[in-house]
Amino acid sequence: MTNPYTLAEDAAAALKAATGLDSFDVALVMGSGWVPAADAIGETVAEVPLTDLPGFAPPAVAGHGGKVRVVRTGSGRAALIFLGRTHLYEGRSPDEVVHGIRTAAKAGVRSVVLTNAAGGLRPETQNVGDPVLISDHINKTGANPITGTTFLDLTEVYSKRLRALVKEIDPSLAEGVYVAFRGPTYETPAEIRMLRTLGGDMIGMSTVLEAIAAREAGLEVLGISLVTNPGAGLADEPLNHEEVLEVGRATAARMGVLLAQVVDKL
Ligand code: HPA
Repeated sequence: MTNPYTLAEDAAAALKAATGLDSFDVALVMGSGWVPAADAIGETVAEVPLTDLPGFAPPAVAGHGGKVRVVRTGSGRAALIFLGRTHLYEGRSPDEVVHGIRTAAKAGVRSVVLTNAAGGLRPETQNVGDPVLISDHINKTGANPITGTTFLDLTEVYSKRLRALVKEIDPSLAEGVYVAFRGPTYETPAEIRMLRTLGGDMIGMSTVLEAIAAREAGLEVLGISLVTNPGAGLADEPLNHEEVLEVGRATAARMGVLLAQVVDKL
């Protein structure tokens, strides 16, 4: 089996060849519902299907695009935007889930913005359509992208510096602890009650492994959840993926403006 770090180096080389650029400043991963917001971040320079690059798994869920777009932002930064991500629940390994992050790191980015859709667990994180800054996470996927004796410090996974920058742009944003389950089922109401007791503020099925891999690579991490629903059992309605995507479409303009401002300040 190919070493995942070497595979990421190969993918970074292929990305440079395919885009004609040889340095990138920041990477963004657009989660469920966030893809429409990508258009506001800058001028598209190139777009490459991920399956053209070594090591990327094809996407399994509608609304998860499977492309990487390179954009030039207003202030001239080169941003790599992953339109869609790979999830554990697709039957993929932790190495496959974080391959985009490792590729971006090998391509030279210094920071990553990880976005996702999440269920809200508390009154402050239950306003559907609101972005919430991730202050920390609880990894309940049972998986980890690192194997071996790399005892990586996770005291500050989500950069305080970057969170402060975002709050200068929008002081109204709440912060919260993101809990990740493997999925693909949504949670039971009993699990949601448990997660609230454990200190969780948002629940989702992604992000945490990518954040760990980014920290391993020495990148600064910013995480933003778009609240698409109250956690299961907190409102009187069943959950569905279409509703998640719909909240994304309805809030795309606001999220796009926020991300464009953030990326220019990083
Ligand atoms: N649970 C898990 N993942 C999610 C949710 C949720 O309630 N909403 C959006 N993604």
